[in-house]
Amino acid sequence: MVENQNRKRILEVGCGRIKAPGAIGVDSNPDATAADVIADVNRSLPFVDNFFDEVRAVHVVEHVSDVMKTVAEMHRVCRPGGTIFLVTPHYTDFSSWCDPTHRWHLNSYSFGFFGSTNRDRYWYTGVELRQRALHIEMASLWKWLGIQWLVNHSDRLRRFWELYPCFIVRGKQIEFTFEVVK
Ligand SMILES: C[S@@+](CC[C@H](N)C(=O)[O-])C[C@H]1O[C@@H](n2cnc3c(N)ncnc32)[C@H](O)[C@@H]1O
Repeated sequence: MVENQNRKRILEVGCGRIKAPGAIGVDSNPDATAADVIADVNRSLPFVDNFFDEVRAVHVVEHVSDVMKTVAEMHRVCRPGGTIFLVTPHYTDFSSWCDPTHRWHLNSYSFGFFGSTNRDRYWYTGVELRQRALHIEMASLWKWLGIQWLVNHSDRLRRFWELYPCFIVRGKQIEFTFEVVK
């Protein structure tokens, strides 16, 4: 009983066939074998405000019809101080473009539009996220040559990479960890 009370409440949005241990899986596709609930995150999630400690969406946001609405809905069901974990292909990756169900091609600055430090952008939704971690995953060759380490080493190097050579030295996926601010 005590163990249950202390357990983190985790929501895995767009779970498909896999979800984090102990998570509730939600997916819009009735064939998603890891789903406990069938719902469209673009409309509304059938959970009350602030219910979860962590909300995850791994390779999902690039599929939805409205990224801003999706993130706003994830933010709504997550408690203040909770975590949103997102993974999406980097827009220079082969996988970002080959799947015909991908609507969006994003980079490491795309979710800055939810940051209160970007007041000029924050008005899009009023939803606020504080970025806690960001990791760029690159192809094995770039990893092996130490370029992945460099790109993740500092914000300046990542910015330089994304402004100049990223369409040659390409990324694979971006992993974001945000704190929910309410
Ligand atoms: C590429 S799969 C990723 C599945 C899983 N997260 C993984 O990492 O293997 C994308 C998933 O998002 C789901 N999805 C797409 N749009 C959705 C939406 N609007 N609401 C809920 N799930 C959605 C799809 O049905 C699919 O299961």
